[in-house]
Amino acid sequence: MILLDGKKVSEKILNDVKGRVLHQVKIPHLVVVLVGDDSASRVYVNNKKKAAEKVGIKSSVIEFSSDISEDTLLKKINELNNDSEVTGILVQLPLPNHIDKNKVVTAISPLKDVDGFHPENQGKLLIGMEPYFYPATPQGILMLLDEYSIPLECKNAVVIGRSNIVGKPMAQMLLKRNATVTMCHSYTQNLDEIIKTADVVISAVGKKIVRCKMVKKNSVVVDVGIYRDINGKLTGDVDFDIVSPSCGFISPVPGGVGPMTIASLMYNASKVYM
Ligand code: GUN
Repeated sequence: MILLDGKKVSEKILNDVKGRVLHQVKIPHLVVVLVGDDSASRVYVNNKKKAAEKVGIKSSVIEFSSDISEDTLLKKINELNNDSEVTGILVQLPLPNHIDKNKVVTAISPLKDVDGFHPENQGKLLIGMEPYFYPATPQGILMLLDEYSIPLECKNAVVIGRSNIVGKPMAQMLLKRNATVTMCHSYTQNLDEIIKTADVVISAVGKKIVRCKMVKKNSVVVDVGIYRDINGKLTGDVDFDIVSPSCGFISPVPGGVGPMTIASLMYNASKVYM
């Protein structure tokens, strides 16, 4: 079993991005918008800011209290769209309930949508056109698999979780690589039987869902889940101790997909469309 070392690979990617930024005429400027005081969101935003600094991307964080109106937020996004000095805009999710997330994501210019969440970018991915940006987590996962020269063509890939952020774009990106993709989610029957057929398992659920000795021998297991268990320990979707002996490659939590997501986001943030 080989560990997919996201920490190591992310450092390599960040170095590449740094070189790329250094040779660009225009310095990218990423604006991160944080609404409310969700402590996890604050940690993510700080990590993004730190990573941007590391690679020479200018970054700013705009903070709003949780009672900001949807209208005020949309106006701010419009302002950032029209600011030629701003090259990337990211609104940290989740947003408070009174704000329509889809409206906000749609308000961001697709050319500055470093998260790749805008319907134009997701739609382009769906119909096989090149989006301006691919969503950071699935793109980071492919960067990680590529680094280990893991082939995807003709392979059976099982994606667990159907979020717009990970599961759905992941499935599309695997299809683009000519994998045979099965999407699983909370209504899927016989999940264990499906996982047993997979050459590649990508789990993005946020629950301990890939367990037992149920994976195919030498399969590749990517754990996107990250949350704290009852003892406060960071853990993922995969029962590592049980699954790891039979698989070929496995990503740890922490130190797997998390750092790759940040590196992939910085790759996106280094792009300048204008
Ligand atoms: N919240 C959880 N994941 C993400 C992400 O990738 N981007 C944004 N903007 N918010 C998130």
